[in-house]
Amino acid sequence: MSDADDQKRAAAEAAAQLLPDEGVIGLGTGTTARFFIERVGALVAAGRRLVGVPTSRASRELAERAGIPLLPDEGPWRVDVCVDGADEVDGSLCLIKGGGGALLREKIVNGAAAVNLIVVDRPKLSPRLGTRWPVPVEIAPFGHRAVAQRLAAFGRPVLRERDGAPFVTDGGHYIYDLHCGVIDDPAALERELDAVAGVVETGLFVGRATSLLIADAHGVERRDAPPAAR
Ligand code: A5P
Repeated sequence: MSDADDQKRAAAEAAAQLLPDEGVIGLGTGTTARFFIERVGALVAAGRRLVGVPTSRASRELAERAGIPLLPDEGPWRVDVCVDGADEVDGSLCLIKGGGGALLREKIVNGAAAVNLIVVDRPKLSPRLGTRWPVPVEIAPFGHRAVAQRLAAFGRPVLRERDGAPFVTDGGHYIYDLHCGVIDDPAALERELDAVAGVVETGLFVGRATSLLIADAHGVERRDAPPAAR
């Protein structure tokens, strides 16, 4: 296992220690969330009454294999704690997510959660969003090249592909990775992108993290968002 994997596992373990004895847990998507899901499976096997809400098909499959009881995708759910990863995090705990393509379900479950714990390894920290990652923008396939023309007002949109064809999300949509450079005002950019017809969701998560758990070679550091920012 790589050092990065060890750190992702440590962040996931730290999040698992913050879970209630029983309740509904949002199960994020990605390599860090995978460690968390495995840990929740172990807790359930040990008798903890935890029920999951997965944020992707992949996480649902992982959680099923881990033996975690799951609520249906339809909702509504009252999620006590959601634990998810991120691709880039700034000093205000604003996030870019969606590197794995699960941003829509991740944002829906995040919005249903009383507490959102974000688990990352330290290289994900960034002075300002856009330094390390483009912004994933999930859009309807119909007219996607027309929508991309509109996105070009904000940066350089690149259609995400897999095996030479457009990458298709769990919701049947496409993703454009929008290279817009350093983002001065993530909240404003999120609002402006959301206003473009055809945009289903963006990977900008502003004011959506309760706490950040950052793992590095020395351990796990916790940073809490100020209450007003949540
Ligand atoms: C999935 O769409 C993403 O939002 C992930 O949560 C994010 O890409 C972090 O993934 P890793 O933990 O694999 O870096």
